[in-house]
Amino acid sequence: LRHGAMRQTVARQAKKGDLGATLIIDRDTVRDPFPHYERIRAQGRIVRSALTLTTVDHEVTQTVLRSPDFIVSMRMPENAPSLLQALMKVGGSYPLGPAEPPSLLSSDPPDHTRMRKLVTRSFSAKAIAALRGRTEEIATGLLDEMTATAGRNGRRADVIGDYAALLPATVIAEMLGAPTSMREQFLRWGEGGAYSLDMGLTYGQFRRSEKDIDALTDWMLGHFETLRRNPGDDILSSLVQAHDEEEGKLADDELLSIAMLLLAAGFETTVNLIGNGTRLLLEHPDQRARLAAEPELWPNAVEEILRYESPVQRTGRVAGADTEVCGIPVRRGSLIITHLGGANRDPAVFPEPGRFDVAREGADRHVSFSSGIHYCLGAALAKMEGEVGLRALFERFPDMRADGLPELRGTRVLRGYRSLPVRLDRAP
Ligand code: HEM
Repeated sequence: LRHGAMRQTVARQAKKGDLGATLIIDRDTVRDPFPHYERIRAQGRIVRSALTLTTVDHEVTQTVLRSPDFIVSMRMPENAPSLLQALMKVGGSYPLGPAEPPSLLSSDPPDHTRMRKLVTRSFSAKAIAALRGRTEEIATGLLDEMTATAGRNGRRADVIGDYAALLPATVIAEMLGAPTSMREQFLRWGEGGAYSLDMGLTYGQFRRSEKDIDALTDWMLGHFETLRRNPGDDILSSLVQAHDEEEGKLADDELLSIAMLLLAAGFETTVNLIGNGTRLLLEHPDQRARLAAEPELWPNAVEEILRYESPVQRTGRVAGADTEVCGIPVRRGSLIITHLGGANRDPAVFPEPGRFDVAREGADRHVSFSSGIHYCLGAALAKMEGEVGLRALFERFPDMRADGLPELRGTRVLRGYRSLPVRLDRAP
């Protein structure tokens, strides 16, 4: 009941033209948030809505994300409007959802610094470069399977279910010492888990999310026991060891939280990079032809895909003190929503931001991986997987074309497709 009433109030705010509320509730903005970002941009660098402060400005976004005045642990602003408090708590909280405390995503220094240090090395550029060969092998294997399945299915395939979801899920399963036979199950749990990042859910979405996170938590606790009995050279074996060896290094709930975040981030985000990239290249045959002729452009193309269709559309911070951003005063306790997908279309940084150009100079100035101390730990991994995955797909199927409409996932923070039907052969 409380949930239904809350949604109605947010809906009323949205009807009144409150831009922040609209992005939380309105279905059309899930499908296509970009015109909405432009409405916010036209109103100012920081726009005050009934619930939050909102920005799509590149400089403001970067300043907020890099500033020690803005924190993540004070999730509930002390002086927040009661409606916002209800929104953020709706139906209870998500114990151990990927972004709930003590997640890295919701910890400030010094806890954040201590926890992040335990996993940084496994995701360094050097560590990720060493995984490229294996990622190419996995991609080749999946494309072989996709060819075989499509052969029995009139040359039809679903890029998401048959490929884009499986590639990062297989890589992260191997990195975490989890059996790859679990990857389909991880993906099913991940679908509900992804809702936990959004605000203003329907009751059904909330229940699904809670159930999936519970199931994943149970599995993870069992996995720790397996790794204790039989440690490998994977990341989780070393985390379990760090936890068991030295008291104070990593608490029980911190170990579980990092493990859940790595797993969820591993299979929930890069799928969208590969899926969004596939759709963009199918829609822009000139850009696709350019990559076929100049394959050295692939790394830049991945940056442009990340900029143009950010797989994570937004994040937020709370002002821990009275402060100012780019000359605009912000009161302690204010929640500011930074729309990464909107900042990536800021014409002050990206000329003609609505043009998709795989050779764009400065495409890598996007904020799709955030900025500052929470800058995505998996950025090097995601970019490597995106490049290997997309290039292998388009080189294997040079005649691939869209076959019907893709279906969006329907989540707001994460932007990507649930299915992307294609035909692998040439048009008749
Ligand atoms: C943090 C995006 C892939 C692990 C973040 C944040 C963003 C992001 C925006 C920061 C949120 C904030 O500042 O509030 C992405 C995108 C990806 C991707 C767009 C793929 C295209 C991955 C992968 C992993 C990963 C593959 C690892 C398996 C993490 C972790 C954090 C994080 C652990 C928390 C870092 C911290 O709080 O210190 N990611 N991510 N990400 N990401 Fe990623």
